[in-house]
Amino acid sequence: MKKTTFVIGNWKLNPSSLTDAVKLTAEVTKKYKADEQTVVAVAPGYLHIADVTKKIGRKAIAVAAQDVATEPMGPFTGEVSALQLRDLKVSFVIIGHSERRAMGETDEIVQKKIQVALKYNLIPVICIGEKDRDAKGDFYSFVEKQIKAIASVLTAAQIKKVVIAYEPIWAIGTGKTATAADVKEMQLFLFSTLTKLYDRPTAAKVPLLYGGSVKKENALELHKDGGMDGFLVGGASLKADDFISIINATKR
Ligand code: 13P
Repeated sequence: MKKTTFVIGNWKLNPSSLTDAVKLTAEVTKKYKADEQTVVAVAPGYLHIADVTKKIGRKAIAVAAQDVATEPMGPFTGEVSALQLRDLKVSFVIIGHSERRAMGETDEIVQKKIQVALKYNLIPVICIGEKDRDAKGDFYSFVEKQIKAIASVLTAAQIKKVVIAYEPIWAIGTGKTATAADVKEMQLFLFSTLTKLYDRPTAAKVPLLYGGSVKKENALELHKDGGMDGFLVGGASLKADDFISIINATKR
């Protein structure tokens, strides 16, 4: 059986108006042809989630949030909880994005967010990835440490309910993409690390995504030769045609 492929568009702090967010949703929804093997999601800003969901209607496009509070409710000014996201029919939540880690999010906070997301039936899309690539390959131990921090709070049954996105920081928004060979090497490393921490059948159930300057021009090669289960797309997900091209590249 063919594995499921995931393509998730992380809109980050874009677009600047609700009208534009709904317009982008309408374009993606109109052009997207659903199939059984592909899961497509868009991650708008919190303020746009309700209208984006409404615009998607019955089309098979899921909605993701870009973050979640560590607590389900209570006196936490400015936070948005898993319960609130669930109530708006959000399915996925991006956790531990490097842009949030850069604002002080630690492995411990990431662990709490993963646990609260699972508790309220949101699928965590957990981001990992090194800042720089060194010739000696020390970045592998950095990534391993991040995986271990995640695994330390998840049973085998739970890790099968998360998605892991490898997003090397140096490739995010820079136009510098990892090569398909780099991505393949990391996919093998992540798989073997998860196999050591759990077992092979469990590791095989964890979808692994690549993110970092994925574009319509490089998606086909990265998907064919990179060996991952899909993409987490930033900038290119803000143009409907580009996003659809990337989705289609994973089907070829
Ligand atoms: P870019 O595709 O813009 O490099 O962003 C990647 C990313 O951070 C997705 O979460």
